[in-house]
Amino acid sequence: MHDGIVTDGLTRLFPGGVGLADLSLEVASGEVLALLGPNGAGKTTTVRLLNGVLRPDRGHARVLGLDPATHGDELRRRTGVLTEHAGLDDRLTARENLHYAARIRGITGPAVEARIGELLDRFGMGERADQPVRGASTGQRKRLGLARSLLHDPEVLFLDEPTSGLDPTATRDVVELIGSLATEHGRTIVLATHFLGEAGRLADRMAVLDRGELVAYGRPADLADDLWDGLEAEVDLGARATTEQLDVVAAVAGVHTVEPSPAGAVLRVAGRDVLPHVVARLVGAGAPVYAAVPRPPTLEDVYFEIEARRAASAGLPPAPDPRGVPT
Ligand SMILES: Nc1ncnc2c1ncn2[C@@H]1O[C@H](COP(=O)(O)OP(=O)(O)O)[C@@H](O)[C@H]1O
Ligand SMILES: [Mg+2]
Repeated sequence: MHDGIVTDGLTRLFPGGVGLADLSLEVASGEVLALLGPNGAGKTTTVRLLNGVLRPDRGHARVLGLDPATHGDELRRRTGVLTEHAGLDDRLTARENLHYAARIRGITGPAVEARIGELLDRFGMGERADQPVRGASTGQRKRLGLARSLLHDPEVLFLDEPTSGLDPTATRDVVELIGSLATEHGRTIVLATHFLGEAGRLADRMAVLDRGELVAYGRPADLADDLWDGLEAEVDLGARATTEQLDVVAAVAGVHTVEPSPAGAVLRVAGRDVLPHVVARLVGAGAPVYAAVPRPPTLEDVYFEIEARRAASAGLPPAPDPRGVPT
């Protein structure tokens, strides 16, 4: 039995069009899946299908070995969700909101009070635990929503736009919290977001959706390998590279491209073995080399490259892209 997430041809149609078309993917237990794409891509639809609050028209899913369409109640006892709009009761205090959610979930007993206090502290809500949620900031609401999603210590966590509407500091706080949740006893996390930002570094796998279609899926590093030849690297020369220095670098075997950067030059090389030769030639030419380091693409780089290639190929005759956008 697969105790992560598996979907096979998962499809949901809405009167207005496709919500999600033919989604097939697999996420191992304990992994973080980033579900990416612009507004209307189908991220929220996917989360709702996986958590069994929406039924598919075709295909199926298994989460923790359960079919969300037929075993939704059983599944939701083991999953937590932060919905796009956290749906808190403004009249209640933070603590009361958690008590209310616990009661609905049937979590009772003497340990509940302590659990709630612990979660409020962990999510930085201890100080305003007993004030009405009405005056809370977006960041505080997200943190409270996160705390609520964890009341029953779920094995799978669905987070829909956990950082939308947050300022940079609040974003960093929430991303750090999510990172800490991901490392706790093999919890599987689905992170749906149209804004990558720092959330990118949490993802083991990424799925890019566009108008309901899965356009790319895999480990960010594998997708990057398919998108680009070789490796990007930066040479730190303490200042923008001179024309002479750029010529020296360009002449090294295995250097595909070289461009000046504020600190020196950015190059694309066949592999990391090329870098020592680059350094040797530069030093030979009298250049001060402070560092030469590979710069692996971030998940954000991968996402934007996929989007750019899709945009570039839109409207063109249907010729196969020789570089091959991964599907
Ligand atoms: N309840 C619904 N009724 C009708 N259309 C819907 C409903 N939910 C989503 N859709 C449509 O499905 C598509 C995907 O929406 P959604 O999953 O919310 O995208 P995302 O979360 O990526 O922004 C959109 O075109 C949206 O209008
Ligand atoms: Mg959404």
